Amino acid sequence: MSPLLELRNITKRFGGLTAVNELSYHVEEGESLGLIGPNGAGKTTTFNLIMDEFQLTSGQIIYRGTNIEKLPTHKRVQEGIVRTYQVPRPFHEMPVSDNIRIGMMPENIGKMIAEAPDPDAEMAIARSVGFGEREFAMYPGELSMGDLRRLELARTIAAGPKLLLLDEVFAGLTVAEIGQITELLLEKRKDGLTYIIVSHDLRSLAPLVDRVVAMSFGALLSEGSFDEVLADEKVQEAYLGT
Ligand SMILES: Nc1ncnc2c1ncn2[C@@H]1O[C@H](COP(=O)(O)OP(=O)(O)OP(=O)(O)O)[C@@H](O)[C@H]1O
Ligand SMILES: [Mg+2]
Repeated sequence: MSPLLELRNITKRFGGLTAVNELSYHVEEGESLGLIGPNGAGKTTTFNLIMDEFQLTSGQIIYRGTNIEKLPTHKRVQEGIVRTYQVPRPFHEMPVSDNIRIGMMPENIGKMIAEAPDPDAEMAIARSVGFGEREFAMYPGELSMGDLRRLELARTIAAGPKLLLLDEVFAGLTVAEIGQITELLLEKRKDGLTYIIVSHDLRSLAPLVDRVVAMSFGALLSEGSFDEVLADEKVQEAYLGT
């Protein structure tokens, strides 16, 4: 089986700071991979590199067997690579329904303006993340953090991802909200979605992942099953900061 995504020795430097350092890992098709590490380890930077929101200093990104380093962000999205943001980024001037609509055609906002809306399709996606009619008509400024994270998920699911990059989807959520998002992700996984999920909330991460990659100071620290990685002394030291 060939990996859906493979990172080969990717490096990102910001001036003198090496945020990601010769990092290599992969995710198989249909697999769910947890990406963990202390604050500043380089997890979000990895996602920025996969999306071409930051340019690689060096290294290779291989998606479905093809190098994609030269593809701009919107082409990567078209190819099915979609992400959520650690700090949700909705379009504040639009209701939830239109935010989902934009997700459905991320590569073409012109098309979105020209084409008639399909409220049934938008509502179906809204319902899949637990929204009702009320939230559907609300503006992002009126939503709780839990609902904003749900909207991030709705927007990405609307884009029909093959590979979903989830950055701290549980941060700021109640236990009940975490449970709902977990169920949604498990369901999407049954449909064949592949994802990489970053979370500081290791307990919530555990039921969602087949495998875990731990990083620290931009480099790979440990790789294996959730239990193996958490039991790794190097990982424990990195978290304790010793
Ligand atoms: N645009 C940027 N310019 C300069 N330095 C940056 C930039 N983005 C990230 N960094 C630095 O790169 C390193 C890795 O940051 P990154 O946000 O990827 O960490 P993280 O693992 O996502 O951390 P957290 O768990 O806190 O979200 C940090 O030292 C950070 O300060
Ligand atoms: Mg981060």
